[in-house]
Amino acid sequence: MSVNLNQTNIDLDDPNFRSVFANLQGNILKGHGRDYARHVFFCLGSDEVANRQWIWQMSEKVTSMLEQGQQHQAFKLQGKHDHLFVNLMLSASGYRKLGILREQWPDDPAFLAGMKDLDQRYDTSPRGDHKPTANPLNDDLSQWESDFSQDLDGMLILALSGPLAEAEKALTDLVAEVAQSLDGIGHIAVVQHGHVMRNDKQQVIEHFGFVDGVSNPKFLFSELTEEYRNGGYSNNDPSAPLNLVMVPDPGGDHASFGTYVVYRKLQQNIKGFWQRADMLANTLSENADRKISAEYAGALCVGRFQDGTPISEQSGDGWTNLFNNFNFDDDAEGLKCPLHAHVRKTNPRGDTVRQFNSPPTIERSRRIVRRGISFGETERHPAQEWTEAGLLFLSFQASIVDQFIFMQHTWCNSEKFLHEDVGLDPLVGQLKATEVPKPQSWSKGWGSPTAEQVSFSFSGVVRMKGGEYFFMPSLHFLKNL
Ligand code: HEM
Repeated sequence: MSVNLNQTNIDLDDPNFRSVFANLQGNILKGHGRDYARHVFFCLGSDEVANRQWIWQMSEKVTSMLEQGQQHQAFKLQGKHDHLFVNLMLSASGYRKLGILREQWPDDPAFLAGMKDLDQRYDTSPRGDHKPTANPLNDDLSQWESDFSQDLDGMLILALSGPLAEAEKALTDLVAEVAQSLDGIGHIAVVQHGHVMRNDKQQVIEHFGFVDGVSNPKFLFSELTEEYRNGGYSNNDPSAPLNLVMVPDPGGDHASFGTYVVYRKLQQNIKGFWQRADMLANTLSENADRKISAEYAGALCVGRFQDGTPISEQSGDGWTNLFNNFNFDDDAEGLKCPLHAHVRKTNPRGDTVRQFNSPPTIERSRRIVRRGISFGETERHPAQEWTEAGLLFLSFQASIVDQFIFMQHTWCNSEKFLHEDVGLDPLVGQLKATEVPKPQSWSKGWGSPTAEQVSFSFSGVVRMKGGEYFFMPSLHFLKNL
């Protein structure tokens, strides 16, 4: 039976999808939910047969979507999350070293070029009317950690939950096993350690302290039902068709699908973020009726308060209408949520439809599936700037060029997003190393058309330390090498 990838609201138990889900890697349609992870980046050697055998051996450990669903059921019954979760992905250099026939390679141009090839030009303009630019992400390779500067042929995600010490020991042992199995074939290039951080309410947060992983495209009936209970869809439809994230795997059979992966190690300057938020708050408070807090200034940058409350909905935290049923229709000018705010640039929820008169399906097709995890020290108020802390950003999408690169380049990095002079996304917008960001404009009064606007430059709190583009193939491909 052929699979219609336009479908959404998929039931994991639907027999029509059984062979597809047995063949699809887990984590794509639903996050694996484990608290601790190792990202094991590996380099293969020059012996294609040995390389293929090793990948084939590793494929035995990979968790399919079907298994992930079964493990989740067991977790709900037994209340423990003790299963190891494994993903396996390959870069273009990995495909080369496996000696795979060219017609079996995934063909996204960014995947084929790799993240380090800054000369590639991709057409990422909103209406296809700009000349494609080189280095659309404005990456600066001189800032990258040396481990990421070599050819990384693939990456394994090993993830576990459970008591910290036990999970960490088990993951360390697993990485040692992987290293041993690679002996004489290739080597491990670098291992990144990820861990979920939580606030007092046990919600997942990132290092600046904001609840994270709230808004993601939803494919499954179970997740859509949960989202419906958490506030409904009247102002925002979180559902997404499978083709937002799944593409046919050219190396597999008719029931084989994979996804493209963007991996970016993003270091966060926690002290610097809150210092700037404090300065912005002081600037906004000058000659104003009320004192503006750093918490409010931080929410202007993110578009949500630390507890997840969208600033487009109210001027303080504590929104109970959980969390995602909102859009910017009543705030087209950005008087409540600035047009440059991180969540507005990364999901404009209708802004580009209004501005460019383009169909909503185009804006919605830019969405990405975020599966990142924090790394580094858990200190929420570090004494130093640029501590070893940040986000191991990981996104899945059907097209790296039309989704991730478009989002980072045309929305986050563009100072002309929607209008002239909107400015950078204060969290992750970056310009070329030689360019100086223009200040963004910030309102002194929430929602007030007459309130004074002040200029303040907020950027440079996140640094890109390295990454790569991958393809996460079907199990059919991995097991038939
Ligand atoms: C949402 C933080 C990097 C894309 C969010 C949220 C936070 C956040 C706090 C709001 C909560 C949520 O909806 O999950 C960060 C931090 C980053 C980072 C601290 C870097 C260290 C990125 C990058 C991209 C991105 C590089 C892509 C270019 C998104 C998207 C959303 C989001 C698509 C959901 C927006 C929505 O649907 O409302 N991020 N983010 N983020 N972020 Fe980021």
